[in-house]
Amino acid sequence: MKAFSAYVFDAYGTLFDVHSATARHRDEIGPMADHLSELWRTKQLEYTWTRTLMGAHRSFRDLTAEALDFAAARCGGITTEARTKLLAAYDTLDAYPDVKPTLTKLKAAGARVAILSNGTPGMLEQAIVSAGLEQTIDACFSVEEVGAFKTAPAVYNLVGRRWGFSPSEVSFQSSNRWDIAGAVKFGFRSVWINRTRQPDEYSDLAPELTLYGLAELVVGQS
Ligand code: LAC
Repeated sequence: MKAFSAYVFDAYGTLFDVHSATARHRDEIGPMADHLSELWRTKQLEYTWTRTLMGAHRSFRDLTAEALDFAAARCGGITTEARTKLLAAYDTLDAYPDVKPTLTKLKAAGARVAILSNGTPGMLEQAIVSAGLEQTIDACFSVEEVGAFKTAPAVYNLVGRRWGFSPSEVSFQSSNRWDIAGAVKFGFRSVWINRTRQPDEYSDLAPELTLYGLAELVVGQS
C-alpha cells in the first residue's frame, strides 16, 4: 500500500465509539437504550446536514444535546441526571482498540496524523485526552473554523489550507459512508472503515479502499 504524506481521520464512529456513552449508562436508560443511541446519532447527523443546507450553523455540541433531547423524548424520557451523564460521556467516548496502535505506527512511519471532524475543538480535545491519544495526533481540524458541517467541501479543504498538501496526498479515513462520499468528491484518497459491515452506497463516489478496521491501514508503511 502506498504511503501518504498525511492520514486524516473522522472522529465520531471512526476513532470514537458514539454508542459507548449510552452503553455506560444502559441501566439508567432501560430497555430502550440501544434505540435511543441510534436515534441520537441519526438526529445529530440530520441536524448537521439540514443546518449546513440552510446556512444556519450551530455547534456540534449544541446539536448533540438537541438530538439527545429528541431521542430521549421518543424513547419515553430520561432523567435530568441521565441526560447530564450522557452528554458528559460524549466528551470521553471510548476509542476503538485499533486506534492508538494504528496512529502510533503511522506517526512512527513519518506520516502526519490529524482528525477532521464536525466536533468542536473543545469536544475533540477532551476526547483525545481521555483516550490518551495526545502523542499520536499532530492536528485537529474542526468544522467550527468554516461554520459548516461535512460534506461541505470547505471542511475537507481545511487540511490543505493548514498543511499545504494537495487532496491526493491525503489519505482520509471514515466509518461514515456519506463522509467518504464527500471526501472522494473533494479529491482525497479515501478509505471507508466499514466497522459495522454496512452495505455500500453512493456508488458514483466510491472509496479507493474498504477496510473493516484501522489496523490494515499500516500495511506497507515502512
Ligand atoms: C465527525 C462525524 C461525522 O466526527 O462523526 O465528523
